[in-house]
Amino acid sequence: MAFQISYSLTILLIIFGISQSRAILDSLYYQKTCPQAENIIYQVVRNATTYDPKVPARILRMFFHDCFVRGCDASVLLDSTTKNEAEKDGPPNTSLAAFYVIDDAKTKLEKACPRTVSCADTLAIAARDVVVLSGGPNWVVLKGRKDGRISRANETLTLPAPSFNTSQLIQSFSQRGLTTKDLVTLSGGHTLGFSHCSSFEARLRNFSKIHDFDPNLNPQFAQDLKTKCPKPNRDGSAGHFLDSTQSVFDNDYYKRIVGGEGVFLSDQSMLLDYRTRWIVEAFARDQSSFFGEFAASMVKLGNVGVNENGEVRVNCRVVN
Ligand code: HEM
Ligand SMILES: *[C@@H]1O[C@H](CO)[C@@H](O)[C@H](O)[C@H]1NC(C)=O
Ligand SMILES: *[C@@H]1O[C@H](CO)[C@@H](O)[C@H](O)[C@H]1NC(C)=O
Ligand SMILES: *[C@@H]1O[C@H](CO)[C@@H](O)[C@H](O)[C@H]1NC(C)=O
Ligand SMILES: *[C@@H]1O[C@H](CO)[C@@H](O)[C@H](O)[C@H]1NC(C)=O
Ligand SMILES: *[C@@H]1O[C@H](CO)[C@@H](O)[C@H](O)[C@H]1NC(C)=O
Repeated sequence: MAFQISYSLTILLIIFGISQSRAILDSLYYQKTCPQAENIIYQVVRNATTYDPKVPARILRMFFHDCFVRGCDASVLLDSTTKNEAEKDGPPNTSLAAFYVIDDAKTKLEKACPRTVSCADTLAIAARDVVVLSGGPNWVVLKGRKDGRISRANETLTLPAPSFNTSQLIQSFSQRGLTTKDLVTLSGGHTLGFSHCSSFEARLRNFSKIHDFDPNLNPQFAQDLKTKCPKPNRDGSAGHFLDSTQSVFDNDYYKRIVGGEGVFLSDQSMLLDYRTRWIVEAFARDQSSFFGEFAASMVKLGNVGVNENGEVRVNCRVVN
């Protein structure tokens, strides 16, 4: 009997261990040490969003960049030093902003529960909050990440580029343990926010020997983008919103792709590949299935390269 119990327990542990291969994260991680942590973060993020409606898009993208470079370890939050150029000063950083929101939350967290809540967890929680505040799905954030001590500008070159086709995107996601479905789902983050011309203008003029603009762009939309991004003279802040409801978390992004209005080649390419097209079309038809999948894929994104051996930074911009 005792043998049977310990035997079943072992089996259970094995199954649990496999399905939770990153079992170090836990939904109740701060329940004893800082039960008010999530509320503190939520209040700061909500207040910041009422002052600046760009905050949700910026925080969501920041979390993606954090997790894709060195795992979700808050490496994206570190400032450059005289000896080291950090990720936030790497090339694809044009729209990385709103770091002050994470700083504000962290200052309040340090007052309430000193040296307890990591910057990586703070960003993961804030990323969930901005989706909720924008009308998107809610989910339970797993916690217990530690903050890394390394951040290198050149490693941002390993982020997927907006010029990537679906094969390249699938490869980039699979290198982080994310599936093709996660790729299509998480790209739905582009339901929020804005892009500068530089990220898509190669599609607009001189696209190829036989095409002036990318033939997969809706011609009317291509004309729109050209007007927004005139050549040669324009100001560096010019660009376009990533879907037509830039502050609302909804499935409009997928509807735009189906209509040939994906802003990046990477967005639009998912309609051309049989491995992703069906998912794009399903999400364009059914917002609730997108919401359910988005919540699940964000949890998976939050598990990428989680760091157990780091520290809890006091100031998210510098290592302790
Ligand atoms: C699939 C590969 C992806 C590529 C190639 C990509 C690329 C880009 C680029 C080039 C920009 C615009 C930068 C600029 O010019 O200002 C952008 C913006 C954005 N991305 Fe992505 N991204 C990807 C995936 C994701 C994911 C997974 C998320 C989050 C779940 C995300 C969230 C955002 C958001 C919210 C913005 C708008 C930022 C703002 O308005 O400040 N992206 N992305
Ligand atoms: C709310 O956000 C604004 C703008 O960032 C800031 O000036 C203000 O201090 C914040 N208020 C609270 C209570 O955090
Ligand atoms: C982006 O990187 C450039 C240098 O490559 C730097 O001058 C700029 O401050 C960075 N932007 C942000 C928001 O960190
Ligand atoms: C970044 O630079 C470091 C040296 O500073 C180098 O060891 C590393 O391989 C580079 N990484 C990439 C992705 O280029
Ligand atoms: C995707 O891009 C890569 C690199 O440019 C290229 O080798 C590959 O043929 C492309 N795949 C498709 C399906 O277009
Ligand atoms: C298109 O490319 C050709 C040859 O590469 C160049 O001569 C021409 O100026 C380009 N046109 C535009 C509008 O950039």
